[in-house]
Amino acid sequence: MAVKTETETTVETALSAQLREGTREDHARAESTPFVADLMAGRLDVAAYADLAAQQHAVYVALEAAGAALGERGASVALPALARVPAIESDLARLWGPAWRDRVDLLPATRRYAERLREVATTLPGYVAHAYTRYLGDLSGGQIIKRMLARHYGLADDVLAFYTFDALERIKPFKDEYRARIDALELTGDERRAVVAEARGAFDLNRAVFAELGARHAPAP
Ligand code: HEM
Repeated sequence: MAVKTETETTVETALSAQLREGTREDHARAESTPFVADLMAGRLDVAAYADLAAQQHAVYVALEAAGAALGERGASVALPALARVPAIESDLARLWGPAWRDRVDLLPATRRYAERLREVATTLPGYVAHAYTRYLGDLSGGQIIKRMLARHYGLADDVLAFYTFDALERIKPFKDEYRARIDALELTGDERRAVVAEARGAFDLNRAVFAELGARHAPAP
């Protein structure tokens, strides 16, 4: 039996599986960031959630601008049905009123994240890395986060639109389909490795936003 070289193995493994494996540790770290853990445990408040939504708005504006441009060029992973910007805007308008834009106070980490998206998400490998990290996260852990936010802070669906994907019929089959779309991309081994590296970077960028949010919103003593 022929022994595969490392390169061959990597090329043969589906990209979605490489992404899951390659970001497993980053995911565990992101999940256990104090801000995320405190928010999930009910130790923060609605203001902390609103601030998170405001940071996410800047991130998704950048991600979805890149996605729209790629979608026009036929990219199979840039799907209007995933769009989160209208949902976040509706959440923020409910939370902060019609002048919500005046209350947005972007963190330096959010600016860096949006800047990175403007730099790399305009290319297919860059976009896939970031779309994977955010959208599959929102469709997975995001659904748990939504329940926790409703439970701990009494938030109703009309301020949790970000976590509600009305344009998708059912989440689980969609996630499988999205992974299949990722796996069908024609990318070289080097490009796939770059995608995984960029996804790891995307987790770092998220972690940095959580760290700065944590400095702004400490749990009550
Ligand atoms: C409290 C916070 C979080 C919880 C409880 C959580 C939970 C989960 C769970 C249970 C899954 C697996 C779902 C499945 O197998 O279908 C998952 C997947 C995922 N999460 Fe999270 N998550 C959290 C935070 C995050 C964050 C902050 C990010 C990135 C910004 C993220 C990105 C992802 C991604 C990309 C996946 C898909 C993994 C894959 O199947 O390839 N998650 N999450």
